[in-house]
Amino acid sequence: MITARPRGTADILPEEAAGWRYVEDTFRIICREYCYEEIRTPIFEHTELFERGVGDTTDIVEKEMYTFRDRGDRSITLRPEGTAPVVRAYLENNLNAGPQPVKLFYTGPMFRYDKPQAGRFRQFHQLGAEVLGSPLPSVDAELIAMVMEFYGRLGLKGLELHINSVGCPRCRSDLRERLQQFLNPKLNSLCANCRGRFSRNPLRILDCKEKDCAEISAGAPTTLDCLCPDCESRFSSVKGYLDRLGIAYQVDSRLVRGLDYYTNTAFEVMSRDIGAQSSIGGGGRYNGLIEAVGGPPTPGVGFALGVERILLTMKGQGIDLPGRDRPDVFVVNADPDTEMEAFKILFTLRKGGLSADKDFLGRSMKAQMKYAGKTGCRYVVILGGNELKRGAAGVKDMASGEQVEMTLTDLAGQIKKKVYGGE
Ligand code: HAM
Repeated sequence: MITARPRGTADILPEEAAGWRYVEDTFRIICREYCYEEIRTPIFEHTELFERGVGDTTDIVEKEMYTFRDRGDRSITLRPEGTAPVVRAYLENNLNAGPQPVKLFYTGPMFRYDKPQAGRFRQFHQLGAEVLGSPLPSVDAELIAMVMEFYGRLGLKGLELHINSVGCPRCRSDLRERLQQFLNPKLNSLCANCRGRFSRNPLRILDCKEKDCAEISAGAPTTLDCLCPDCESRFSSVKGYLDRLGIAYQVDSRLVRGLDYYTNTAFEVMSRDIGAQSSIGGGGRYNGLIEAVGGPPTPGVGFALGVERILLTMKGQGIDLPGRDRPDVFVVNADPDTEMEAFKILFTLRKGGLSADKDFLGRSMKAQMKYAGKTGCRYVVILGGNELKRGAAGVKDMASGEQVEMTLTDLAGQIKKKVYGGE
């Protein structure tokens, strides 16, 4: 028998699933308030989408993708992120021909073959949002505000919001040149990864976490040293909107993020409560991505947040999450002759709007009561032959232990009044 799940994956058991749902539901409520509509794209895409979209010099494309040939010999990749698929769907379904901007959100699993560790999984889950079709800095600020509002509503505290501008392609080619000039004499002291990045993608050296690389790049030119006047004014404008909303941030000129598509704004939110994998969300603007995947020049901006890391931070900060769902009612039948009747009443209670369950192991009445207690139900309906003849049932409040008799006519309505009060 195969007993172990693949490394870097997790089973979300019923006692955790309620917490996951709570986080996802809170995100959905905020998306509704900010007028983002849901999009669901496939879990797998043509490999080329990520090669062209995410960038073939990124860690994701170079070494982290789950890529395979399908039975039709096409190269397929399990999505490592959600932005390129959303952009593909926007173009393929002609959403660019309708009213702009298009504001979309998504939730779901992503796949990256990286070394698993606390907070880093091979299958992980993101909550994301993308705005396609507006170049305005107010949209960048809206998205950042939305992220911070979401974390705040979950009760998270002490998070750090880092923002930067990585400029336009012109600013970046200027930076690239200046960086290469600066790093060339120190090339041999960089880590193997960064030596590889030197000619292909030197910007990534700026946010390498290796001690030697960080020391070397400490004095290196950064993105902010190379911004053209237009990019500089866009960045000031994003900061202005954030200031106006009272959102605290730190400008981090070393923040370049691990995906190639960013232009102008880049941001990341850090939690100090979860160890090395401290980024609980990030995003930015990607004005060249839509063209890179074959569409007309169209601006875009968005973010994605890691659900596992959000939950880890909530646990680290002692924030209570909802527990397992409890039944409203558990139906106990006192003798085997009333079992069929109990079965019928169970369905009447459910039709009446209650969550209801009963014994399915043929337990004795005493064992049924014990089991009912374990389910955490609020009320137990006790059916005995005598009460049934009178058209009645005993209803026990499990919190107070108090038991009353109720008529079977509109039993659900009577219990609902107790559960939901006054309805
Ligand atoms: P990303 O920074 O690669 O950006 O991922 C966003 C978030 O997903 C991270 O901040 C982290 O919380 C979570 N995450 C990433 N990798 C893992 C992992 N291996 N295990 C657990 N959690 C992880 C993107 O994916 C971009 N698509 C964001 C974006 C949207 N930019 C513009 N629009």
